[in-house]
Amino acid sequence: CCVFFSNSSILVSLYCCGVSVCISSWFLFILTDVISPIPDSYSPQYVEAAWYPWWEKQGFFKPEYGVSEQNSRGIFMMCIPPPNVTGSLHLGHALTNAIQDCLTRWHRMRGETTLWNPGCDHAGIATQVVVEKKLMRERGMSRHDLGRENFIQEVWKWKNEKGDRIYHQLKKLGSSLDWDRACFTMDPKLSYAVQEAFIRMHDEGVIYRSKRLVNWSCTLNSAISDIEVDKKELTGRTLLPVPGYKEKVEFGVLVSFSYKIDGSDEEVIVATTRIETMLGDTAVAVHPDDPRYQHLKGKMVLHPFCDRKMPIVFDNFVDMSFGTGAVKITPAHDHNDYEVGERHNLAFINILDENGLLINGMKRFEARKAVLQALKERGQFKEIKDNPMVVPVCSRSKDIVEPLLKPQWYVNCTDMGKQAADAVREGRLKIIPDHHLKTWFNWMDNIRDWCISRQLWWGHRIPAYFITINDPSDVDGHYWVSGRSAEEAKEKAAKRFNVSADKITLRQDEDVLDTWFSSGIFPFSIFGWPNENQDLNVFYPGTLLETGHDILFFWVARMVMMGLKLTGKLPFKEVYLHAVVRDAHGRKMSKSLGNVIDPLDVITGISLEGLHAQLMDSNLDPLEVEKAKQGQKSDYPNGIPECGTDALRFALCAYTSQGRDINLDVNRILGYRHFCNKLWNAVKFAMKTLGDNFIPSEKAQSVSDRWILSRLSAAVGLCNAGFRAYDFPGITTAIYNFWLYELCDVYLVRKRETTEQQTLYTCLEVGLRLLSPLMPFVTEELYQRLPRRQPQCDPPSICVTPYPDVEEVDCEMEFVMTVVKTIRSLRADYNLTKTRADCKLTHKLIYFTSYWL
Ligand SMILES: *[C@@H]1O[C@H](CO)[C@@H](O)[C@H](O)[C@H]1NC(C)=O
Ligand SMILES: *[C@@H]1O[C@H](CO)[C@@H](O)[C@H](O)[C@H]1NC(C)=O
Ligand SMILES: *[C@@H]1O[C@H](CO)[C@@H](O)[C@H](O)[C@H]1NC(C)=O
Ligand SMILES: *[C@@H]1O[C@H](CO)[C@@H](O)[C@H](O)[C@H]1NC(C)=O
Ligand SMILES: *[C@@H]1O[C@H](CO)[C@@H](O)[C@H](O)[C@H]1NC(C)=O
Repeated sequence: CCVFFSNSSILVSLYCCGVSVCISSWFLFILTDVISPIPDSYSPQYVEAAWYPWWEKQGFFKPEYGVSEQNSRGIFMMCIPPPNVTGSLHLGHALTNAIQDCLTRWHRMRGETTLWNPGCDHAGIATQVVVEKKLMRERGMSRHDLGRENFIQEVWKWKNEKGDRIYHQLKKLGSSLDWDRACFTMDPKLSYAVQEAFIRMHDEGVIYRSKRLVNWSCTLNSAISDIEVDKKELTGRTLLPVPGYKEKVEFGVLVSFSYKIDGSDEEVIVATTRIETMLGDTAVAVHPDDPRYQHLKGKMVLHPFCDRKMPIVFDNFVDMSFGTGAVKITPAHDHNDYEVGERHNLAFINILDENGLLINGMKRFEARKAVLQALKERGQFKEIKDNPMVVPVCSRSKDIVEPLLKPQWYVNCTDMGKQAADAVREGRLKIIPDHHLKTWFNWMDNIRDWCISRQLWWGHRIPAYFITINDPSDVDGHYWVSGRSAEEAKEKAAKRFNVSADKITLRQDEDVLDTWFSSGIFPFSIFGWPNENQDLNVFYPGTLLETGHDILFFWVARMVMMGLKLTGKLPFKEVYLHAVVRDAHGRKMSKSLGNVIDPLDVITGISLEGLHAQLMDSNLDPLEVEKAKQGQKSDYPNGIPECGTDALRFALCAYTSQGRDINLDVNRILGYRHFCNKLWNAVKFAMKTLGDNFIPSEKAQSVSDRWILSRLSAAVGLCNAGFRAYDFPGITTAIYNFWLYELCDVYLVRKRETTEQQTLYTCLEVGLRLLSPLMPFVTEELYQRLPRRQPQCDPPSICVTPYPDVEEVDCEMEFVMTVVKTIRSLRADYNLTKTRADCKLTHKLIYFTSYWL
């Protein structure tokens, strides 16, 4: 180990075994006043080591910083789409973050009161699964062995250990979040809001309870949401692994068997891909016009394994041309059959418990074999053949999803969905880019009620109580009331049913709410809704919601609906949806492809071995690890070079055209690290040119300077327009071109004596401020070394200087453009388009290169 001390403004680092640790940040504040010579070469590690804690300590990221009545130019408020507390950020999040931070910094520099609010969500299923696995691995215990309360404590312990990783990553990315306002969806303040939201919506009847088919994971013992159902396509017979089964289970086959008609020798043949469900059959359906079955009207069929007589129903939904035209109906275990069951008033017979076991304790896929065997023995089995099909798989547990009939809580989305669609139709809510509008309307106009019950332990327990009234005159006696506490629920029930409270017994629902329920109210729960307070008044509704287009519905739509419902206001005015990041080959990021990259690895660099080692910590199976290793080897044969945060952010913004997906190539990020080198060297060179005794003052311009100032002004115009239109490549291109092709290639290479110092200073100072939202670290480092126009009242940090404005860069654009146009036509006239031409203009010599002519 060695202690490395530099007298520069910021670097006090302890280099230890390749790890650099920043020490004693109070010490740095003393040092920040020290102007030291600019180091010889650009090093992201050096530049990015210590500014962040200083920014944070100084409170630059707080909306309260520097606010006074004269200078506030409106409010910019945005909340982070809360990442999942169990997770860690990958490059997709880094993109979200680069965009959000540069927007936030731009608004802040424009003098707006700016708040970017951080937070995390508790990711119910994901977190519970992770902790359950850990518990099983380390102690051989299930959550049931531990009990609900102890298990929840275990999750909290784990959250407190791991939950900081994301915040650490966000800080390393330079995110200008107000950390004092960080919120976790299970904080008391936010939990209170969740409870209140549920109670209000339940009292209003928007939340109701209903028994319907849900997508059930027998492994998780919980209903799962639509997005957690993966559709596995099979082309024919396939053996799939299923959790809890030693042998693989057969899917993708269609089994035909017959039902005997009651009181006749005749039989009807039906077919199914899930033969075990025939145990729950309660009818056979045929098409009303099918000539083959007209004589069976009013007849019954017999169940071979019990004395169940089942009607033959006539229903239009049956496809006459498929198979025999007769289908078995299992209302309690199939989505289509459920509806047939409702229409024809059929019995709903449930054959599975929550663990996927039959009444006799047999596992459901063992029953698949047993039923087949029993049918064969009775001579009712007909044939078995390949059948291409889609198998629903739970993305969390990899179990096969079973539709199960369960009473659950639902949110009636009819009215809320309509309001959310209207808000966009009437232009009150803007969705950018507008090619997402179609999806928005399509979803809102066909919205289905939202199942919010989850049979988990980790999450917000549903504040609803099942009451029993000990009153002999009460015939029904089973009701649900919601309440902030058991006492409140009791009183509510007593009032509603006009009995005394002591006659009522309560049992709170065991379930918790879907995580999206709490994320849906995040834009106002973070400000303490429903309690009136200043933050809620000032910062709600927010300005913008920014996120990847893939979660438009699951989250954005819900925030809009819940915001309108509970606060009567849209939670934000604009939604900007950026593209999804894919790898350089255009593939989705996935752990098993080895292309999920931690942004910190791009920032600091990592060897191929280092990447491999990370796979060992993941929960991939050995085969997948091998595959992922191969992927890493072919994509990063030499690992990933150190690129630094600034280059990473700049590259991500440069990629973000408003198309759908981004194919990210790490080499391009490296390219922007070279840009940082150039920037560094240019400023170093320019500062030498300015000399030690240079004092910036009001500008004096020569004609040549008008040119560079006009280029600067154009860049400023493009950047502001780019930020307004969410055109990030427009911004990066303007800045890149100005610094590289105009300032470095043209202006700085001119003879030293022709350089007007004040103009050069303006270019550096304005150019750095222009770039600051995208590259906050290197611009701060360089800005701190520039002499100041008004040292006493200049802002202490570049992140709180005003963003450049076209007016500020006083230029005579038209004059310069006339000169350029004249010279261009002269060159054309004299056939000089291929050569570099010196032009004499009044008394001054200017070099024009063909680049900008
Ligand atoms: C949350 O993070 C875990 C662990 O990284 C991941 O498996 C899961 O998919 C994430 N959940 C969501 C909702 O993003
Ligand atoms: C179950 O999942 C399927 C597949 O994603 C979906 O189409 C269906 O709507 C889901 N059912 C319920 C009740 O959520
Ligand atoms: C949902 O709300 C709509 C409109 O208020 C109403 O017509 C519908 O019956 C409700 N649905 C349920 C299941 O309560
Ligand atoms: C409530 O019950 C009491 C007697 O238990 C009866 O006098 C009263 O009229 C009832 N009120 C209503 C609103 O039914
Ligand atoms: C300009 O150059 C091109 C080819 O180099 C030639 O064809 C053309 O005649 C020239 N024009 C004049 C005005 O010299």
